[in-house]
Amino acid sequence: MNAPPVPATFHAMRILSGIQPSGALHVGNYFGMMQPAIELQNEGEAYYFIADYHSMTSLFDAEQRRQNTQDVALDFLACGLDPAKAVFFRQSDVPEVTELTWLLTTLTPMPMLENCHSYKDKLSKGLKPNHGLFAYPVLMAADILIYDSNVVPVGRDQKQHVEVTRDIAGKFNQTYGETFVIPEPRIRDEVAAVPGTDGQKMSKSYDNTIEIFGTEKPLRKKVMRLVMDSRPPEEPKPDAEKNIAIQLLKLFATKEVASETENKLREGGLGYGDLKKTLFEHYWEYFTEARAKRAELENNLDYVNQVLQESAEKARALASTVVDRAKKNCGLS
Ligand code: ADP
Ligand code: TRP
Repeated sequence: MNAPPVPATFHAMRILSGIQPSGALHVGNYFGMMQPAIELQNEGEAYYFIADYHSMTSLFDAEQRRQNTQDVALDFLACGLDPAKAVFFRQSDVPEVTELTWLLTTLTPMPMLENCHSYKDKLSKGLKPNHGLFAYPVLMAADILIYDSNVVPVGRDQKQHVEVTRDIAGKFNQTYGETFVIPEPRIRDEVAAVPGTDGQKMSKSYDNTIEIFGTEKPLRKKVMRLVMDSRPPEEPKPDAEKNIAIQLLKLFATKEVASETENKLREGGLGYGDLKKTLFEHYWEYFTEARAKRAELENNLDYVNQVLQESAEKARALASTVVDRAKKNCGLS
């Protein structure tokens, strides 16, 4: 029997992304993934979710997971995710994704997973690997394929996972006939890897983050602790564009302010303390509106839960049609 047609060809561009509730969200998450995702919600059908199943590979505290999940929901909504435009849900509210994971796992070559940078990085950081951590990209592939997604906005570190998804989908289509849409990563070059306070990529696991939300004093302290060299203020800095504070300032300030500050640093006369103060002021100002929105949402958790639940129903309805298609095509029904 011929495979049923893939309905995806008839829908508007479908955009999908997820974020793990593994800790407080930081400005790397914001510029790398959240802001692009929020902008894309105006350009097609957006599906965004909180990857709570994924967080189980590295977080083993149930209460913490619950709390983090709520925090991610508040953060994302406060930053501008609009539930009238985007379907915003908890990954585990669509359990069909674990069923699809099994179907995909049987076509996933072991070496492909063994080669994933993110897995290798975690091993090298001493994380004891469990099977979930190893199979993580297959669950991610199911997340993407189960909504017939076309575009996946992520930071650069997730690019390889989207490539794995494309490979698995291609193999499934080849083996069982056209079933899945082949998705594309959408990565913004200028924010593909936002630097952290130590100059490495900002990441929850490197203890170098500046959070999007939090109390002013400790966040100011974090910014003031940005790692700089020991050159005195008056010394010209011909490499000013490499300075972490300048790189971060470019994200928060207008072009004019950022280039004026960069020039001052280049010419000499701007001390690192003053530079960090300028950065803090712009960073703090940047999220003013979002902070107010977050405080409002925090007092309205019923609304937040309702958004997640209603969205989950929509997501689940779509997911089941794709899983049914996949099961039919591979002979499970
Ligand atoms: P973390 O490294 O802090 O654990 P995640 O892996 O949860 O972050 O990433 C969530 C999303 O944010 C992904 O799309 C990822 O690519 C993006 N992201 C994370 N850190 C950065 C960064 N420093 N610069 C740009 N994007 C980032
Ligand atoms: N692995 C992603 C991260 O750590 C989160 C994620 C899970 C995801 N499933 C996804 C991102 C599907 C995009 C699409 O950031």
